[in-house]
Amino acid sequence: MSEVARAVSERGELVLRRRVDDGALELRVNGVFVMDDVETSSEELLASAVLSSVRRPDRVLVGGLGLGYTVRALLRDVRLGEVVVAEIEPDVVSWMRAGLVPSVLDDPRVSVVLGDVRDVVVAQEGASLDGILLDVDNGPDFLVYNENSAVYASPFVTTCRSKLRAGGVLTVWSSSASPDLEAVVTSVFGACEVKPVPVDLQGRAETYYVYQGSL
Ligand SMILES: C[S@@+](CC[C@H](N)C(=O)[O-])C[C@H]1O[C@@H](n2cnc3c(N)ncnc32)[C@H](O)[C@@H]1O
Repeated sequence: MSEVARAVSERGELVLRRRVDDGALELRVNGVFVMDDVETSSEELLASAVLSSVRRPDRVLVGGLGLGYTVRALLRDVRLGEVVVAEIEPDVVSWMRAGLVPSVLDDPRVSVVLGDVRDVVVAQEGASLDGILLDVDNGPDFLVYNENSAVYASPFVTTCRSKLRAGGVLTVWSSSASPDLEAVVTSVFGACEVKPVPVDLQGRAETYYVYQGSL
């Protein structure tokens, strides 16, 4: 394993490193593996679930830049008007700007807001977004920061709903099945679509999940 970059913020440690065996780039937050650049299908599904559900993705918001796969999947759609990315760790953005991670930030449709996705969503005008895509942890049951538990709770999911336009969609990524999240999304949106994504994690078969609430 070779270290590409390391940073410490008030929330803990971030490490970008390259695996020796397969050359993959990995992001770790507080010692927790959050993702690599090999198995990115579920991060992309977070985007395609929104793109296939909304008529016109004029304006969407992504919580968590990470290695940029969700944002890149959005940008591949020529209908996309604008994507606002909320990222809490300035170094994640700096590393991408410095070219340590392939960049999605040069596209004029992308703007980055440094901050907690909860604050960034609250600051949006009501009914101004076609999609909100949340991938800030390993899911509600494997948080990278304890404070992120609020991201999956009813008050914040209700706030997300209030920021969506008619026909808008919320998608939430999780590394495990979460009946609690399913119940929250169902109570706020009236229904919750659960999309399991089979993934190959360095030879190990796993299933990730995307939870979707739609207006
Ligand atoms: C798993 S990665 C996102 C992966 C991304 N979907 C992709 O395709 O590369 C999680 C990201 O969320 C960020 N993050 C964690 N908590 C956050 C919060 N409360 N608000 C905004 N960003 C947060 C982390 O710093 C990290 O960059």
